[in-house]
Amino acid sequence: MFRYLPEQASTFASDVDWLHHWITDLSVFFTVAIFGAAILFAIIWRRKDGKHHPTPRILGDHTLEVIWTVVPTIICIFIAVEGIRIYKDIRTPPKNTLDINVTAQQFGWEFEYSNGKKTNNFTTIPVGQPIKYILRSKDVLHSFFVPAMRVKSDALASMYTYVWFNPIKTGEYQGFCTEYCGSGHSGMLFKVNVVSPAEYDRWLNDDSKEMMMAKMPPEDKGRELYTSKNCVTCHSIDGSAKVGPSFAKLWNRKEVLVDGSEVLVDENYLEESILYPAKKIVKGYGPLMPAYEGQLTQDEIKYLIAFIKTLEKGSLAPAPVAATATAAAAPIDLSKMTPAERGKNHYQTKLCVTCHSADGSKIIGPSFKGLYGKNGKFTDGSAYVADDAYIQGAIWEPQAQVVEGYPVPSPMPSYKGQLSESEIADIVEYIKTLK
Ligand code: CUA
Repeated sequence: MFRYLPEQASTFASDVDWLHHWITDLSVFFTVAIFGAAILFAIIWRRKDGKHHPTPRILGDHTLEVIWTVVPTIICIFIAVEGIRIYKDIRTPPKNTLDINVTAQQFGWEFEYSNGKKTNNFTTIPVGQPIKYILRSKDVLHSFFVPAMRVKSDALASMYTYVWFNPIKTGEYQGFCTEYCGSGHSGMLFKVNVVSPAEYDRWLNDDSKEMMMAKMPPEDKGRELYTSKNCVTCHSIDGSAKVGPSFAKLWNRKEVLVDGSEVLVDENYLEESILYPAKKIVKGYGPLMPAYEGQLTQDEIKYLIAFIKTLEKGSLAPAPVAATATAAAAPIDLSKMTPAERGKNHYQTKLCVTCHSADGSKIIGPSFKGLYGKNGKFTDGSAYVADDAYIQGAIWEPQAQVVEGYPVPSPMPSYKGQLSESEIADIVEYIKTLK
């Protein structure tokens, strides 16, 4: 009866669900029995002859009293004992956990692995391995909740807390912030990606994204920070107003502040608004942004400003052309490579990597991981299969059809003339390796 709990993806799930269902079924049983009896008796012993019948004097029944005292007592003790047993399990991590540090912040989650790898709003873990997330908040109270794993804990600014679980099957599971923490609370989501141990090792040691970051021009680093530091939650780049003003056409414009004064959007204003957002609030907006003082370096602010400058005309900056990146890279002999290796090289040098991850995380466009052969829908509702022809079309004419859930028009520039048919075939081979 009433089986409504989410998918069971950790070893806790069957215990938690079993007890939960048992208590629910028991409650339903007694509710129906008690109200059913009351209604039934009212019908059976209703006054039928119109005469008044005095209530007989009933002096109690020891057998009955013993039954209705002892039976519920046993049931309640059983529930308590089982509850404590399961709770103790959930609160007692084994010694061999894989520890991942989690930092919550308005409005996003940062995961840091033992080798220094960091991800945002996305965590990859190996199946069958006990995982411990050590939680901390940078600002207000948040709460880390992964329903499929049956774990939840507050994240506080004043102390460390943790959750642990042992994932039992691969897949992608939704995580939530489940403590109201401000205007962006409902968007404070993350994904838990459970993969095979081999896949996890590959993912953990894949630093292609970091390498690319180091070689990127400032505005592209800024674009990456825009996503990873969660600016994207409140500031659009297409001109639409979210919680804060859009970054589109922001640069060099005059903003009217709540006190009626005007300010020119230049480097100093942007830096001040990032570090101390409460100082100058734009008319029509609330003082909702957390201060980024101590959270962004001078360089990072510079990159963000460079990115905002590229949005001066309102349109998204064209993706940087390959030339800059290839020049910096060491000479590579493509002829000695397999098609998939060449594809990976194009993926990095042609900067697909800026917007399409290889690890399943969502940057700006869909991830390449698991893309090949996937079925999906476009924004107009029509279906597609991600085969060779689809991928070539999407690279040459990205505006033609946009995948459901991604911005229209697509911010991706056309790669017609920049990637040949054979280069695209290499990229397809590379994508096929990203299962
Ligand atoms: Cu963070 Cu709600």
